[in-house]
Amino acid sequence: MNTVEWSDALLLEFEPMDAVHREFVDLLAQAQNASDANLPQAWAAVVTHTEQHFGREDEWMRKTRFASADNHILQHRVVLHVLREGLAMAQTGQMGAVREMAGELGVWFAKHTQSHDAALALHMRGQVIPTSQRKAGARAAHRPP
Ligand SMILES: [Fe+2]
Ligand SMILES: [Fe+2]
Repeated sequence: MNTVEWSDALLLEFEPMDAVHREFVDLLAQAQNASDANLPQAWAAVVTHTEQHFGREDEWMRKTRFASADNHILQHRVVLHVLREGLAMAQTGQMGAVREMAGELGVWFAKHTQSHDAALALHMRGQVIPTSQRKAGARAAHRPP
């Protein structure tokens, strides 16, 4: 199984995204290290995080009319659908399948971050984000490109 780990190769120099991505890696690692008894709960935390994580990126893309939004939003929707299926599997004891999914999700995340999210981060660094839309605790919202 591919065990996910944070790496500076995942940094996008856009703190609101980097903070969320670190949290994602932490939660996925917790799920990968969870016992069978704890896996359903750990996977539920991954799904809840991902709903918010993707939802925020989708909102940024829509609000700023990001050119590649459709493809990126579609990827989010497909992956979230798969993760929800994983939750149903975890809740019915199909732990092997969920662990396999977790490994594939880690690989997908690295690719997605370094392609789709990197393009969005570059775009967002050129945007001014109102303070009210920044996530609490996420600082350094924008720098000049
Ligand atoms: Fe992301
Ligand atoms: Fe994304």
